[in-house]
Amino acid sequence: MTQDQLKAVVGQAALAYVPEGAIVGVGTGSTVNCFIDALGTMRDHIRGAVSSSIRSTERLQALGIEVFDAADVDRIPVYIDGADEIDHGGHMIKGGGAALTREKIVADLAERFVCIADASKLVDVMGTFPLPVEVIPMAAAQVARRFNAMPGVQATVRAGVTTDNGNPILDVRGLKITDPLAMETEVNQWPGVVCVGIFARHKAAVCLLGTAEGVKTLT
Ligand code: 5RP
Repeated sequence: MTQDQLKAVVGQAALAYVPEGAIVGVGTGSTVNCFIDALGTMRDHIRGAVSSSIRSTERLQALGIEVFDAADVDRIPVYIDGADEIDHGGHMIKGGGAALTREKIVADLAERFVCIADASKLVDVMGTFPLPVEVIPMAAAQVARRFNAMPGVQATVRAGVTTDNGNPILDVRGLKITDPLAMETEVNQWPGVVCVGIFARHKAAVCLLGTAEGVKTLT
């Protein structure tokens, strides 16, 4: 199967995690686009969605799915999203699509995070994929300096990209994220950091991994 076919298969498999009548948390990205398309087939069985990006909102609405403002929703049963990398503990790097801050906000509303990914995303140690960090524009150079002070690490501003919140993204290369929770906690405290793309506090409870042998469920 191609990578696109694997994404379609896990997008479809995620429907099993959507309770009848629910407001569903919906992430962002090409894998989630497959999930959104599948969700369209059961739109009469859900109340609607909370979305993590303008792109996903537009795709949901085009399928006739009502999108609620996160501020108007107390709790959702499930958040379904992709990842750029996921380790065997369910920790993830996210933000390749620049939606990390809203993704973490919607994940925070959810009782459980279901990650959907093709097998290429599963790693032993995260960091090969450049770590996205959303920053306030004024802080970009200083946050980059902090990363660049680490041996072998290089942070660059993602060219031509502004998030839905109007901020730049730094991409940080050369990290080996052996303790995701510690690194998330540390970087979150740096002045001007809006969101670091390590999802350790909001890790996946379940990962539906698309493999050549079918969907593997990792818990
Ligand atoms: C967007 C994300 C995505 O979940 C991540 O980039 C994976 O995307 P794709 O499914 O297209 O590989 O974090 O900010």
